[in-house]
Amino acid sequence: MSNDYVIPKHIGIIMDGNGRWAKKRGLPRINGHKEGMLVLKKTVETCKNLGVDFLTVYAFSTENWKRPKIEVSFLLNLLKYYIRSELDYLKKNKVALKFIGSRIGLDKKIISMMSVIEKETSDGTEMVFSIAFNYGGRMEITDGVKKIAQMVEDKELLPEDIDEELISNQLYTKNMPDPDLIIRTSGEFRTSNFLLWQSAYSEYYISDVLWPDFTEEVLIDALKVFSARNRRFGGV
Ligand code: FPP
Repeated sequence: MSNDYVIPKHIGIIMDGNGRWAKKRGLPRINGHKEGMLVLKKTVETCKNLGVDFLTVYAFSTENWKRPKIEVSFLLNLLKYYIRSELDYLKKNKVALKFIGSRIGLDKKIISMMSVIEKETSDGTEMVFSIAFNYGGRMEITDGVKKIAQMVEDKELLPEDIDEELISNQLYTKNMPDPDLIIRTSGEFRTSNFLLWQSAYSEYYISDVLWPDFTEEVLIDALKVFSARNRRFGGV
């Protein structure tokens, strides 16, 4: 296939704008999340078909617990619905689903569903699809630092042995390459605590489109812009 764009190995997406999408239509915010979940399903298919190796999306941040109870509980139920309805597709298409984030604060049922689908899809070789759920980049780094401090205390490690690789290996994304491209929808220019350590050299693409309006065309536009950029990783 000859394209005028390259396919990044790892794409991250901050799916923003569900609430505004619903508001524009005079609907409750939760309708935006429901539509956003359907768009997520399509985006997973598109990325898999394009040959993306790793896709990581931000579905629920550690800060999202501050939202109204009804919205939080809708998002938790939406995740359960997503897991139930996507298992067959993910298995058939050899997509491995992983969850990155903390399981603390989640109910037993959801934790068990997450573990089951991770296990059932673990032999997926086409794409690794990670959902950041109850995720926060600072918390992820803090937890990693605690593990390292413990290793030092247990005399398994000397402080001078701490290097970037060791830190990367304490994160939820261990064994994954860093994201090459991070797409954020709804025109906001913030990282919002998403993959803080991993995004040190990621290219950002901000789209004005609200997440429920995201399409394959918008994704391809992002890939074209990404392909035209000259990534120097701090070199010349
Ligand atoms: C941000 O939009 C979006 C979220 C906090 C939730 C993202 C969730 C989905 C796309 C649904 C798919 C998820 C699952 C559970 C599989 P916002 O609500 O902050 O929008 P706003 O900035 O316009 O208010």
